[in-house]
Amino acid sequence: MARKILLTILCAALCLNISAQRKNVITVDFSNEKFPVQPTMYGVFFEDINFAADGGIYAELVKNRSFEFGQPFQGWKVYGNVSLKDDGPFGNCPHYVRLGYAGHPVMVSGIENEGFFGIGIKEGEEYRLSFWARTSGKSAQEYLSWFLCENGSQLDDQRFQGGDICIDSREWKKYSLVFTAEKTVEKASLRLNLEPWDEKGDPKESSSVDLEHISLFPVDTYNGHENGLRKDIAQAIADLKPGILRFPGGCIVEGTTLENRYKWKDSVNPVENRPINVNRWMFDQKNRFFPDYWQSYGLGFFEYFLFAEEIGAEPLPVISCGMACQFENGPEQHPNAELEVLDPYIQDALDLIEFANGPAKKGWGKVRASLGHPEPFGLKYLAVGNENWGKEYVERLELFTKAIRAKYPEIQIIGSSGPYSGGEWFDELWPEMKRLGVDLVDEHFYSNETFFEKNADRYDNYDRNSKTKVFAGEYACHGSNGRKYNHFNAAIVEAAFMTGMERNADVVHMTAYAPLLAHVEGWQWRPDLIWFDNLNTMKTCSYHVQQLFSINKGAEVIDVTMDGKPVAGKEGQNMLYASAVKDHDGSYIVKIVNLSNYAQTVYIDMKGVPGGAQFSSAEVTTLHSDNAMADNIFTPDAVVPVTKDVDLRPVPRPDEWWTMGVRVLEDGTNSLMQTIDGRTFAVYRFRL
Ligand code: AHR
Repeated sequence: MARKILLTILCAALCLNISAQRKNVITVDFSNEKFPVQPTMYGVFFEDINFAADGGIYAELVKNRSFEFGQPFQGWKVYGNVSLKDDGPFGNCPHYVRLGYAGHPVMVSGIENEGFFGIGIKEGEEYRLSFWARTSGKSAQEYLSWFLCENGSQLDDQRFQGGDICIDSREWKKYSLVFTAEKTVEKASLRLNLEPWDEKGDPKESSSVDLEHISLFPVDTYNGHENGLRKDIAQAIADLKPGILRFPGGCIVEGTTLENRYKWKDSVNPVENRPINVNRWMFDQKNRFFPDYWQSYGLGFFEYFLFAEEIGAEPLPVISCGMACQFENGPEQHPNAELEVLDPYIQDALDLIEFANGPAKKGWGKVRASLGHPEPFGLKYLAVGNENWGKEYVERLELFTKAIRAKYPEIQIIGSSGPYSGGEWFDELWPEMKRLGVDLVDEHFYSNETFFEKNADRYDNYDRNSKTKVFAGEYACHGSNGRKYNHFNAAIVEAAFMTGMERNADVVHMTAYAPLLAHVEGWQWRPDLIWFDNLNTMKTCSYHVQQLFSINKGAEVIDVTMDGKPVAGKEGQNMLYASAVKDHDGSYIVKIVNLSNYAQTVYIDMKGVPGGAQFSSAEVTTLHSDNAMADNIFTPDAVVPVTKDVDLRPVPRPDEWWTMGVRVLEDGTNSLMQTIDGRTFAVYRFRL
């Protein structure tokens, strides 16, 4: 008995002592609504890098479907009597193939496509095989056989599905059939053979068929569009609830030469007639070389706008400012369009706004309407140039700005601050951007862990009165010491940094992690937010961080401090970071990152709770891994957010102070004591 009393006294004394010297007090003033969080705050940045478009989200499964690659048969095995022609029905894509009699009835003429790292086929899914064809021999009727093959298989028959198609016209005509896959194969191929037989089964030496734009698509694309997007990848992006979709790059916007910059007008032709463009990520990284990486423009500007609309994001196109890529080309290798000949580039910008917003009955608005979208897309933002810098950029941007402002004063213009988050170019550009009155400045930072840990206060001292706001348009933690990949540690430092962006949502109006997508076999750049193979999508730890911020971005920033200062992992703050917002439904969200390696007790002091009341319920979602190097790419879902209720019952007895509940402090403020594990991102949602 005496022992029990002693223990109780000891425990109470300890509790009193702890309560007297509470550490890690994070004070949230719920009554202090500071400024709104922009709906655009957390967005995505799409670039066709890492086979993100062709071979990725663009659901086409045939590589080089129109024989327009630099090497026209790249992606194809060609056998028998096959020739390449260049007077096809689509002027911008003139090539097609002719399959003729192979020389003997048992010999075969045909072509076989390898897809992008193989063709991914899922059992039970419907696929649409289509192509343009005509007979080119004596007969008006010819037969083609088609097969899906699994060439790595040891089965007697490597063809796992197929059929025949009758080509019954001497004129070019589109043929299309839908089939249901009977097997799941990650790396299939598509084979098309000429069947040189007449009705009686006798060989026909005059057999000849021409083929163009050979395409294989899943029927079940995102929202069912025929020229659509791979559903799982598109859904993963949609689930981020992005406020903006920036497209189509990145470096590919600018081109290696001005000639191969991204030309949006080419990308809104009928899909068969979109001229191909080289993709600079084919050769950019010499250590990850992909000689068969081209842009088909199958995913073009119409599809980007449509996707943005369907996922509820503001479209944010980026256009060339008339300078080829400065950063990746190197200092001597970036030709610029002289100022005197800049007009066509500026006209491209004006026409793009008309394409997006103009009336359906004329001009570029009519083109949009002809593609199936008579209503305007409601474009609000346009970025001019990507990562450009120097006097030559400013001169060009000025001309764009004047022309756009004169015709479309409502459009918000985004300028560049160069490729780095600081330094000479950055320091020179910001004042110029303000002088030109651009609405947002695009900042890029691919930096190491230390940068993200130390710079959560980066935006605390930005000019709050400036009309020019920040678009943190490309960032990601590039781990040091050979750890430049998607591990948990990179994600957790990004979370810490992001609390600083959110806390300064009056300065930072848009953000986007970069790059967005990567094929596991086709990447040139990592880390990336979402990885995929031919059948599956993998969400990285950084994905979960982005999503937790985005779905909890709230409406108003509210005040959160530690020792009266922003909670930014600074001295005395024990590597804690925090931000807080009020949501549209009246609930409150407090985000805390514990970047230390050990569990910490954190007291969330809740001042100014509306009505002076206690919250009725709360939940906490945490992202944590004991393994800092955990990576969701090859062990999908190794690290995922976990949500549980928070016990808000008042602390009944002093000895339970340790583990649960809310205590009323002397000044009447409620204080919630929580233990937050080391290396943990915790998102609290409090409801009245
Ligand atoms: O995101 C990859 C590249 O990084 C982008 O194309 C470019 O803008 C930046 O240098």
